[in-house]
Amino acid sequence: MFELIEEQITNFKKIVFVTGAGISQESGIPTFRGKDGLWRNHDAMKLATIDAFYDNPKLVWEWYNERRMNIFQAQPNAGHKAIAELEKYTQVVVLTQNIDGLHQKSGSSNVLELHGSIVQIKCTVCNFKEEILEEFFDLPPICKCGNILRPDVVWFGESLPQDVWQNAMNFSSKCDLMVIAGTSLVVSPANTLPIYAKQNNATLVEINPEITEMSGEMDLSIRNTSAEILPQLVSLFKKSYD
Ligand code: APR
Repeated sequence: MFELIEEQITNFKKIVFVTGAGISQESGIPTFRGKDGLWRNHDAMKLATIDAFYDNPKLVWEWYNERRMNIFQAQPNAGHKAIAELEKYTQVVVLTQNIDGLHQKSGSSNVLELHGSIVQIKCTVCNFKEEILEEFFDLPPICKCGNILRPDVVWFGESLPQDVWQNAMNFSSKCDLMVIAGTSLVVSPANTLPIYAKQNNATLVEINPEITEMSGEMDLSIRNTSAEILPQLVSLFKKSYD
């Protein structure tokens, strides 16, 4: 299964991981699409929009409150840990669409959060921004300035933080191996990152139990879960470097 990687292993000096909700699925965090994508019969895709928030901030906050509590008690799984361990052998950058902080919790040091962080809360009007781990009881929570607070995440209809996105494109354009794990690759612009890597002739590897929109572009597609496959992938590096 890994022959393609084993043959070139010592050439892979700059590795970029592009991750999505699937990598945290085995930590008990539901994905967005497919059977997991419903919360109290609301479509997660519709709740995660700037319009839904302004239409009904209380409802959207109830969803985030529940997700925050679930995420705060979640632990990194073998997939997150394997990526963190790979830093011992080569340069690793993680470009994640996840807002759960599990890559950082597992020890990865170069993580770019493309869609923000669920821990961080910001004001919809003033400059207030802070990491808050406590549960909010009166929803929506209100800033000292009198306006509504919101999670510092990127919703549909909003742009990615420009500095983060610029760096993500740069790392992707320079990598020699890109591993895409646990993402359906349907959300733009994150789903363009493999194209930047391909333009640099990087090897593209996808780890996903399901076929994705970009499976046809991959050099290798492994149809299995990330907690199963990533430790196996990292053990190839271990074998080669130790
Ligand atoms: N291991 C690997 N992949 C998995 C696993 C697993 N254990 N379980 C599920 N998957 C795959 C699914 O097959 C699917 O392709 O993970 C993918 C999850 O896809 P989405 O739910 O669409 O999540 P993601 O790609 O991260 O969504 C992108 O959309 O809603 C927005 O901002 C939100 O960041 C999110 C973005």
